[in-house]
Amino acid sequence: MEEKISKIKEELLSSLKTATKEADILNIKSKFLGKTSELNGLLSDLKNMSIEDKKKYGSLLNVTKKEFESIIEEALDNLNSNVSYNFDDTLPANEEMGSLHPVTIVANDVGDILRRMGFSVLSGPEMETEYYNFEALNVPKNHPARDMQDTYYLDNGMLLRTQTSAMQVHAMEKFGAPLRICVPGRTFRNEDLDASHENTFFQLEGMVIDKNISIGNLIFTMQTILKEIFKKEVKVRLRPGFFPFTEPSFELDCSCMICDGKGCPTCKHSGWIELCPCGMIHPNVLKAGGIDPEEYNGFAFGIGLTRLAMMKYKISDIRVLNSGDIRYLDNFKIN
Ligand code: DAH
Repeated sequence: MEEKISKIKEELLSSLKTATKEADILNIKSKFLGKTSELNGLLSDLKNMSIEDKKKYGSLLNVTKKEFESIIEEALDNLNSNVSYNFDDTLPANEEMGSLHPVTIVANDVGDILRRMGFSVLSGPEMETEYYNFEALNVPKNHPARDMQDTYYLDNGMLLRTQTSAMQVHAMEKFGAPLRICVPGRTFRNEDLDASHENTFFQLEGMVIDKNISIGNLIFTMQTILKEIFKKEVKVRLRPGFFPFTEPSFELDCSCMICDGKGCPTCKHSGWIELCPCGMIHPNVLKAGGIDPEEYNGFAFGIGLTRLAMMKYKISDIRVLNSGDIRYLDNFKIN
């Protein structure tokens, strides 16, 4: 009897090894525990045995039956737990939506506004030559303006662009005049980090070249862009500025929206934020781009996209923008 039982158990275990579906296991269950099973046959043989044998084999067969049942139960459990690893359609769906980075949102917004005004949106390389980043923009070697932009120079003789203005002459060479383009992108300067300084930030360069462009065109374009971005009249002021690639140059400031112009660390307690330096393109830059300054002129501007995102979303510390902290960035979901 013992021999028979251990042979049946071996058969049961080996057939379970190849069972991959619930239906396979249920078939095995009926084969080894059902009415016509060998085990059941042995159990019904009990009635023809002596009382002594009945006692002996009865308990052995009942223990075996329980053991077979638990072996099959376990096989079914294993199957279910494997299924839940792959796909459990009883779990609730994850309805959390991702979100765009605040700088991406404002870059898209400004790009859309400018596109509606007839600008093309370009992108340019983050690794640049000294020529496009400085020389072509009327900033020769040893010019003091280079000190204003602490540059990351690379081992290969190139640099990380310090300004999206580096795309000005690329665009002139490629498309010629007339021209209306903007270039959103990442820029780099070797700055110490604090609440209002980052070594990696975003700008958007804008450039218009045509015949008879005036400072009036520049101011009107800037006002239209800012009104659209902030969806309301924003206090702005124009100050004289200095950039070697524009003449005359201006600094367009907007009142600080973090403190409503009262003064805070973000605006260095002045109540104003430098948002958009701009000016009329210097003839030397047009020449570098192969455009005749006698025939064409134009204006250019550089919007600080990182600053703009800070103003729009009232972010007082620039460092959180590059922190990659999803809990924070999730606050800027757009519906
Ligand atoms: N590229 C300058 C900077 O990063 C900003 C700038 C000034 C851009 C004047 C312009 C411009 O297009 O006309 O400091």
